Amino acid sequence: MKRKHFTQIVLATTFTGLAVGGIETAAQVAAAPANATPTAGAAPSPAPAPAATDPGVRTGDSVGGPLKGLTPAQLELYEASKTAFMSAEDVRDGLGPRMNLDSCVGCHMQPAPGGSSPWLNPQIAFATSNDKTNSVPSFLSVNGPVREARFVQNPDGTPDGGVHALFTITGSRDTPTCPLTQPDFAGALASHNVVFRIPTPVFGGGLIEQIPDAAILANQASNAAAKQALGIGGRPNIVLAGGAISGQPNFNGNDGTAARFGWKAQNKSLLMFSGEAYNVEMGITNELFPTERDETPSCQLATTPNDVTDAEATSLAAMLGDVEKFAIFMRFLAPPAPSPTFPGGAESIARGSSLFSAIGCAHCHTPTLMTGSSTVAALDHQPANLYSDLLIHNMGSGLADGVSQGQAGPQEFRTAPLWGLGQRIFFLHDGRTSDLLVAIQQHQSGNGRSPSASEANAVVTNFNRLSEPSKQDLLNFLRSL
Ligand code: HEC
Ligand code: HEC
Repeated sequence: MKRKHFTQIVLATTFTGLAVGGIETAAQVAAAPANATPTAGAAPSPAPAPAATDPGVRTGDSVGGPLKGLTPAQLELYEASKTAFMSAEDVRDGLGPRMNLDSCVGCHMQPAPGGSSPWLNPQIAFATSNDKTNSVPSFLSVNGPVREARFVQNPDGTPDGGVHALFTITGSRDTPTCPLTQPDFAGALASHNVVFRIPTPVFGGGLIEQIPDAAILANQASNAAAKQALGIGGRPNIVLAGGAISGQPNFNGNDGTAARFGWKAQNKSLLMFSGEAYNVEMGITNELFPTERDETPSCQLATTPNDVTDAEATSLAAMLGDVEKFAIFMRFLAPPAPSPTFPGGAESIARGSSLFSAIGCAHCHTPTLMTGSSTVAALDHQPANLYSDLLIHNMGSGLADGVSQGQAGPQEFRTAPLWGLGQRIFFLHDGRTSDLLVAIQQHQSGNGRSPSASEANAVVTNFNRLSEPSKQDLLNFLRSL
């Protein structure tokens, strides 16, 4: 067994050379027999191995809950913060007037609070709850992923890229005169001007936040020759200040360090994401994002910003605004724990883990980055087993969404962290598949090293050259995470 395994890795490297040279196209690779070996034909071949399949969503193991090693005071704050993350808000709390849902947990639910899109999309019932008159856009379904929508361009052809909230509070019993209409999603779909994002899980968010830029940059510089041979580049999403267009308001700027949260690594911190999500996903203004995105007067029932620090409160938890609590909940949330044996058994998972590195997945999906120093002992110099380099990569025309954020361009995405993958239902930024095999194939598009080519092309070629049992080991490993 060991020897066969070794042969495949050597083989993979050989084919890598071909793919990088542009001799093989993606179509040729897909057409080639998956388990061709140098010894094929030397002996009468036994029955072909069954085709590898995604073992499916892993159940039963506990995920979520607080980091190990929090102090009693930290645990108390975690619990109060979790309550805020779990709370559904209404119009009197400032919900809307435009929003995608009414709670953080509604989108971050699978398999536990803090996770990703659940089996049943709560946006469908929310569209018309409390007498709201929203229609459900065609790209949402009960059994599909939670989605938010971004428009690629403005009507005048200039770049947009922003989130256009799906629903309004119009028709709600609390705001009888609020007159809003939903964006024209059918029109945007017809003109291919709308793209989607699904929720990313936030387990272990505090560890990701605590990784120094120096660790990200040192990892980027590591294995340079191997990465270059495979066509893998990647760069941090450095958020530059400024960028104002003359005659326009200066929409935001930042501090020049590596941003790391979100599908394009567009956000710097958990606090920043909390403030943005509260306003953009739920329409609740706060001390980080204090301006209502839609200021129609008859649609405002709460003071602005809707969520604030309460100077009169007598406990720390009651004093903090919700955005601080969301950030604290996510910061203190434990990372997912991989299963040592399921699916496929410990040996298969171990073989899959070696293959994951040998064929080059780990050049982007870096298994571990270390955190730096922290006053929170549970975050101080800890391994973050996130399976991401936190860099943005050109993923080719097949995954491109046409949206730029910070330095991340229309084809670029953050290497998706794979911890917790075993219990996720939907994959890739727009939730286009629930099948790991499809998710891997979608990494491949464009030819050679043209600008349309994905940096992962050669690695997917390596994957396709594995035997079916080896592919199964790799899939078992992925679902053990
Ligand atoms: C309507 C669904 C929805 C709601 C409600 C929602 N989110 Fe999200 N969340 C998303 C989506 C979609 C993304 C990916 C966004 C992107 O990258 O553009 C995301 C990403 C995140 C991330 C980034 C994690 C990472 O590592 O990439 C954080 C943090 C986060 N959300 C926190 C929150 C908080 C806090 C709330 C409540 C205030 C919230 N979200 C409410 C859909 C939602
Ligand atoms: C060039 C860097 C790169 C390489 C090489 C690479 N990936 Fe990825 N991977 C990414 C990026 C970037 C994404 C997010 C793409 C998107 O959502 O559009 C991703 C997403 C994924 C996802 C979906 C995760 C989610 O949260 O939806 C899986 C699964 C995955 N990769 C597995 C693999 C495997 C297995 C390999 C090796 C065969 C591999 N990747 C090689 C960069 C890479």
